[in-house]
Amino acid sequence: MQTKEIRFASRPSGIPSNENFQFVDAEVPPLQDGDVLLRSLYISVDPYLRGRMREGKSYVTPFEIGQVIESYVVGEVVDSRSPDLKPGDVVSGQLGWRLYNVAKAKQLMKTIPGVSPTTALGVLGVTGLTAYFGLLDIGQPKQGENVVVSGAAGAVGMTVCQIAKIKSCRVVGTAGSNEKNEYLRNELGIDATINYKTADISSALKAACPNGIDVYFDNVGGAVSDAVLPLINDRARIVICGQISIYNADRPAVGLKPEPALLVHSAMMRGFIITQYWPRFAEGISQLAQWFKSGQLKHAETIVEGFENTPNAFIGLFRGENLGKQVVKISG
Ligand SMILES: NC(=O)c1ccc[n+]([C@@H]2O[C@H](COP(=O)([O-])OP(=O)(O)OC[C@H]3O[C@@H](n4cnc5c(N)ncnc54)[C@H](OP(=O)(O)O)[C@@H]3O)[C@@H](O)[C@H]2O)c1
Repeated sequence: MQTKEIRFASRPSGIPSNENFQFVDAEVPPLQDGDVLLRSLYISVDPYLRGRMREGKSYVTPFEIGQVIESYVVGEVVDSRSPDLKPGDVVSGQLGWRLYNVAKAKQLMKTIPGVSPTTALGVLGVTGLTAYFGLLDIGQPKQGENVVVSGAAGAVGMTVCQIAKIKSCRVVGTAGSNEKNEYLRNELGIDATINYKTADISSALKAACPNGIDVYFDNVGGAVSDAVLPLINDRARIVICGQISIYNADRPAVGLKPEPALLVHSAMMRGFIITQYWPRFAEGISQLAQWFKSGQLKHAETIVEGFENTPNAFIGLFRGENLGKQVVKISG
C-alpha cells in the first residue's frame, strides 16, 4: 500500500518556504503486533516545529534532512493488530505528515465522543493543556487581577484568555489584526485588546492596564514583552510559553533586560514546556472538557483544506493567518 508523506527538505533561513518541504510517495510498512493503520483526518501545524528545523540541541530533537515532519494528527483506524483499537476508532497522537501512518496503539489517545475531533488538536489537546497549566500552575491568577496575554487570538492565547475570565480576572490581549481583536472582545468577552501591529504598544497597554499587570502570559516575546515589563505590579508572575516573534530570527533578539523590573517588584518569570506536565494531563483534560461542554470555553479554529497545503498552513502561522487553532483537513 502506498502513502504520500512530507519530508523536511532543507533548513529554512527566516520564515520557512515551500522549498523546505518535499512531497514523496512511500510504501506503508506492514502492521506488527500492537500496531494500527491510521488514515489521517486532520493535521496540527504548530509554531514550535520551526524550532525543530534548526540544527543544534533543544528540548526536542531537531528534524534531520529527509525526515518526515511530525506533529499531532487526528486519524481514523482502518486496520488494527491491537486489542485496544478497532477500525472506525478516531484517535490522536504524534504522527508523521502522511496520508496513512502506522503507529503503536498504546501511543494514541481516543478523541472525546460527541465533540469535533479537531478539538483534540486544540482546546481539548496539548494546546488547551498548555494554556491550563501555564496560566493556573505558573501564572496563579487570582480573582480581580489584571492578566495580559500576548498572541491572544492564537490557539493557546485565546484559551488562556478564557480561563483567566473563568477565574474572574480582568484580561487584556494583544493580537495582530482588528478582526482578531474584535473577536476576542465580542465573542470571548475579553476586557480590552491591542492590535500590536498598529498601536503604540506601550501607551496602549498603559491605558488598558491602569492598575498595572499581575500576570503576563507570553506567547510572542519581543516588543510586546518590552512594553509589559515596565507595567508589572509587585509579585507579578510572568509565564514564558512561547517567543514566536523571534523563531525566524538568525540572531539573538535585543530588548529590555527583565532583571531590574523582576528585582524591584519581587516578580517571577518562568518558562515551561508542556510535556513536563504529562503526569497531570488527565486532570487538565477533564477540567477543560467540563468547561468546554458547559460553554464556558470556546474553541475557534482555522481549517486549511488538503494535504498538499500542509506546509502553507504552517508557514501561515508566522503571518498571523490563523484565528485560533490552525489545522489542516486531510479527509473525513
Ligand atoms: N511552552 C510550551 O510547551 C508550548 C506549547 C504549545 C505552544 N507554545 C507556544 O505558544 C505560542 C502560541 O502557539 P499556538 O500553537 O497557539 O500558535 P498560534 O498562536 O495559534 O499561532 C501563531 C500566532 O502567532 C502570532 N505571530 C506570528 N508572528 C508573530 C510575531 N512576529 N510577533 C507577534 N505575534 C506573532 C500570529 O498572530 P497575530 O496575528 O496576533 O500576529 C499567529 O496567528 C507559540 O509561541 C508556541 O511556540 C508553547
